[in-house]
Amino acid sequence: MSLNLSKEAVDPKQVPSKTLRTGAKIPVVGLGTFGSDCYPGEEVAAAVKDAIALGYRHIDCASIYGNEHLIGPVLREAIKSGVKREELWITSKLWNDKHAEKDVGPSCEKSLKDLQLDYLDLYLIHWPFPNSHAKGVSVSSRDKNAKAYIHENYMKTWRQLEKLVERGLVKNIGTSNMTIPKLKLLLRDAKIKPSCGEMELHPHLQQAELYDFVVKAGIIPIGYSPIGSPKRPERDKTPADTVDIEDPVIVKIAERLKVHPAVVCVKWGVQRGEVVIPFSVNRSKYLSNLKAVLSAPLTNEEMKEIADIDKNCRLIKGQVFLWKEGQTWEDLWDLDGKITPP
Ligand SMILES: NC(=O)c1ccc[n+]([C@@H]2O[C@H](COP(=O)([O-])OP(=O)(O)OC[C@H]3O[C@@H](n4cnc5c(N)ncnc54)[C@H](OP(=O)(O)O)[C@@H]3O)[C@@H](O)[C@H]2O)c1
Repeated sequence: MSLNLSKEAVDPKQVPSKTLRTGAKIPVVGLGTFGSDCYPGEEVAAAVKDAIALGYRHIDCASIYGNEHLIGPVLREAIKSGVKREELWITSKLWNDKHAEKDVGPSCEKSLKDLQLDYLDLYLIHWPFPNSHAKGVSVSSRDKNAKAYIHENYMKTWRQLEKLVERGLVKNIGTSNMTIPKLKLLLRDAKIKPSCGEMELHPHLQQAELYDFVVKAGIIPIGYSPIGSPKRPERDKTPADTVDIEDPVIVKIAERLKVHPAVVCVKWGVQRGEVVIPFSVNRSKYLSNLKAVLSAPLTNEEMKEIADIDKNCRLIKGQVFLWKEGQTWEDLWDLDGKITPP
């Protein structure tokens, strides 16, 4: 296996980056690796290999995606073929069943072993709720041992992430699926403050308040599902969900630019100031997502038009992480500005 440098490749140096509080630079477009239960790990790993050959340097991984052991050989081969380790940005995430203090170190070490790396650029707590459930369970499934967000416990997990930084296994640590009240407590109590916060962000879920909060707090927002996750698992779909890539405003801009509406979503996210991690295993799609940041920006008028199509439509609701009978997914998201009590 060798890294075929494609003539269509983008020069990675042309891809803009964001500077984290640690001084590290994260490329503004990364490749997502969650196959949404419809793409096997081998296909995702092959896409990672080709994406690196095409100029991607940022890969968004997680232990729960079940494919880090397949992505590892690809990363090792890329490095052997001449891509410098320090040019790559590799994120991984601690899953919900590994929040216990004793589990954090071994879980990160397992990701490093699978990914065949000495260190991660970024390690995130995937969700702020400890729980455990089988892969692909229905949205009505509940773990009887699931726990609410308890700040004291989250901080115990966070301290372990801080230790990973001290051990040199992880360069930056961050959050995922957090809310403003939870982040306020973390920022108050963390010895090492979060560098990045991963959150669902796309034109129909702009999360302006959270977005502004994290930017002011010096946290780089990483937008997941930036295209509106059209291939998300069926269990995550509800009749009320809206479709970003069918929005007339997005479609109109795509027609002007002669690109797929997905590319408009990518351009919008980066132009607003976030890092985006779109997923695809389709070469022309992931190449056009990377190239999206090199072409002329959207006009101010277009940016305003997109700002006006926010529908507050959360697609990844997290129902299975609820910890009590009678709750709805909104309880996970602290909509009244207060942490939902246990
Ligand atoms: N932290 C978290 O809790 C969390 C949660 C969800 C996701 N994530 C991360 O975010 C990544 C992306 O999110 P996502 O996969 O949910 O959604 P997404 O990136 O919004 O959507 C991915 C889908 O969009 C389509 N697409 C991508 N580029 C396209 C293009 N240029 N033209 C046309 N269609 C295009 C692809 O369809 P086809 O499959 O048909 O090509 C792909 O399946 C994940 O892979 C994962 O790494 C993190």
